[in-house]
Amino acid sequence: MADIDTAALKDNFAAVAAHGGDGVALYFYSYLFLKYPETRDMFPPSMTRQRDRLVGALVRIVTNVDKVGELVPYLEDLGRDHRKFGAVAAHYPAVGEALLATLAHFSGDDWTSELQENWTAAYGVVSGAMSGAAEKVAQDEPAWWDADIINVDRRTFDIAVLKVRTNTVHPYAAGQSFSVEPSTLRPREWRLYTPANAPGGREIELHVRLIDGGPVSTALVRSAAAGDKLRLGPPFGRMKLTQDSDSPLLMIAGSTGWAPMKAMIEQVARDGGRRTHLYFGARSIREIYDRKVLEELSDRYPWLTVVIAVSDDIRWDGPRGMVGDIAAEGEWAGHDVFVCGSPAMVEATIKRLISSGVPEQRIKFEEFGEA
Ligand SMILES: Cc1cc2nc3c(=O)[nH]c(=O)nc-3n(C[C@H](O)[C@H](O)[C@H](O)COP(=O)(O)OP(=O)(O)OC[C@H]3O[C@@H](n4cnc5c(N)ncnc54)[C@H](O)[C@@H]3O)c2cc1C
Ligand code: HEM
Repeated sequence: MADIDTAALKDNFAAVAAHGGDGVALYFYSYLFLKYPETRDMFPPSMTRQRDRLVGALVRIVTNVDKVGELVPYLEDLGRDHRKFGAVAAHYPAVGEALLATLAHFSGDDWTSELQENWTAAYGVVSGAMSGAAEKVAQDEPAWWDADIINVDRRTFDIAVLKVRTNTVHPYAAGQSFSVEPSTLRPREWRLYTPANAPGGREIELHVRLIDGGPVSTALVRSAAAGDKLRLGPPFGRMKLTQDSDSPLLMIAGSTGWAPMKAMIEQVARDGGRRTHLYFGARSIREIYDRKVLEELSDRYPWLTVVIAVSDDIRWDGPRGMVGDIAAEGEWAGHDVFVCGSPAMVEATIKRLISSGVPEQRIKFEEFGEA
């Protein structure tokens, strides 16, 4: 890895993006679809609104190849996850070729043989990790799991709790996510969601918050109905309970970031219980969309303490403020810590926890959006 100049890759892409703008993704996809038309059907039918979902992410990952040690678990998940698109080993060189053709086109006279070699090497490392991981599971695991929506409970105007039933048991661990394609409503649009119940059964609960202008969350919250078909990708993410740890737990959730915490609390209960503090944060009382369950769990389990914090509603007579600030007032030495919510909430909470003395390596987190 030492001989890949990632700084040069980053500089080159910054110049390409500045010069090419939206044209970069357009060129990439035109090249890919013209030369390899069999790849077109893997992508959403309409690509006008979100053309750079792949290109931006692809470049971000490839230009960080010097951190491949940290990236490997993620790349393995990503490669395994790409099987749901129908991606096979032969597609990786095609995507690499389209990427290099795009970079060369927009670099013009700045394109050099060193850049070409650097990009090729970096792409090779990343695509090798992805396609290797995909190949490893190909014999034992389906590329996706079929599921049906069995109930949609609209809790607020922008949050729905969906019950779905899979055809076979999905192998996620409590706290992990998987991507969901609403095949009936938004074919070939995949987004990550996080089961809110412990694994092992064929019924899965999903908590979905509508993001303004977002196609998949809008479809799931506003239009989904019992009988609609879904496809689910493989398990994704490192946010899960450490198997051999009996350390007490601190969980901090913003809005639907509650979903993985609920799954992990159910798992902890199955495993016999463990001291757990859960902080749930919402902006207003209305947004405490799962209050009944929060209260039931808190009553049922003596090892569980639930604190609900509300930031912007003067009618709330419990703790008021940002959930991360309120949680960070506690004493958390020796705790395994989980944080989940919007990128802004997660970032602010982790900063507060670290500055109050929680060691960074004890914190696992998931951000529901791009950081
Ligand atoms: C690991 C993981 C697990 C997830 N689990 C859940 C879940 O259980 N429930 C859930 O409701 N969402 C979850 N999300 C977010 C989800 O994947 C979608 O991004 C979201 O539903 C919006 O999809 P969309 O198609 O409507 O909009 P998109 O086109 O995907 O997004 C529009 C924009 O909104 C941003 N965005 C997405 N979510 C948020 C957010 N919460 N706060 C601020 N900005 C955001 C995106 O980054 C993007 O810039 C998860 C995301 C990740 C990465
Ligand atoms: C090094 C190689 C690759 C990397 C790093 C990579 C990475 C990514 C990432 C991070 C995403 C976004 C995921 C998300 O939005 O949740 C994505 C989407 C996607 N990738 Fe890849 N990918 C690679 C190769 C491929 C290949 C070879 C194919 C097959 C042709 C492919 C097909 C897709 C498709 C269809 C999408 C969805 C795009 C959309 O929804 O608009 N990718 N990829």
